[in-house]
Amino acid sequence: MIKIAPSILSADFSKLGTEIQDVEQAGADYIHVDVMDGHFVPNITIGPLIAASIKPHTQLPLDVHLMIENADHYIPAFAEAGASIITVHQEASPHLHRTIQLIKQQGVKAGVVINPATPVEMIRDILPDVDLVLIMTVNPGFGGQSFIPSGIKKIEQVARWRKEYDLAFEIEVDGGINTDTAKLCTDAGADVLVAGSAIFKTQNRQQAITDIRQSVKK
Ligand code: DX5
Ligand code: ZN
Repeated sequence: MIKIAPSILSADFSKLGTEIQDVEQAGADYIHVDVMDGHFVPNITIGPLIAASIKPHTQLPLDVHLMIENADHYIPAFAEAGASIITVHQEASPHLHRTIQLIKQQGVKAGVVINPATPVEMIRDILPDVDLVLIMTVNPGFGGQSFIPSGIKKIEQVARWRKEYDLAFEIEVDGGINTDTAKLCTDAGADVLVAGSAIFKTQNRQQAITDIRQSVKK
């Protein structure tokens, strides 16, 4: 069964606790937390303080997607805040192997993510060290953008490598996921679907999650 990770970027930030409880009750698997610094991406969102404050409101794993420079400086704080998974961008991590080890030293699962224009080959050598690979299907920075289909071939390639090297990381996809695009990703090998606007911009989140799950079965 595929996992659904609602991205709180599209939630109502004035009532984040109830928004998260709403998607947990609606059948979400992870809470996807988008952290942006205004440098690596042209937007600023939330920091460790907010992650820590939402943690008591959910039993679900916090799936923290760091879109920041100098991630090493902030990883301990996000681990302390209760992150279950911390994912860093290959493009923002000059010493990616060291950064992945740092995440694991905190007792947190480690993920790596690539942007739409980054060749999947850039993460090949780190695959044995990660718990999760995230393929971006929008340029990170904002919710509600259109799906960029070039990510599909990357999901397929990462799934092939996972099999070939006998690895067990999860494959997650993020950006423009809805009932039209979800199946393209799961057919390619994705296990976890991040969805922001397709879930939080609807009134009935349970229906939205059910619709995505149904769409990948057809
Ligand atoms: C984009 C974020 C995504 C975003 C997805 O920078 O990483 O997680 O919230 O939003 P939708 O699902 O609306 O494309
Ligand atoms: Zn994200």
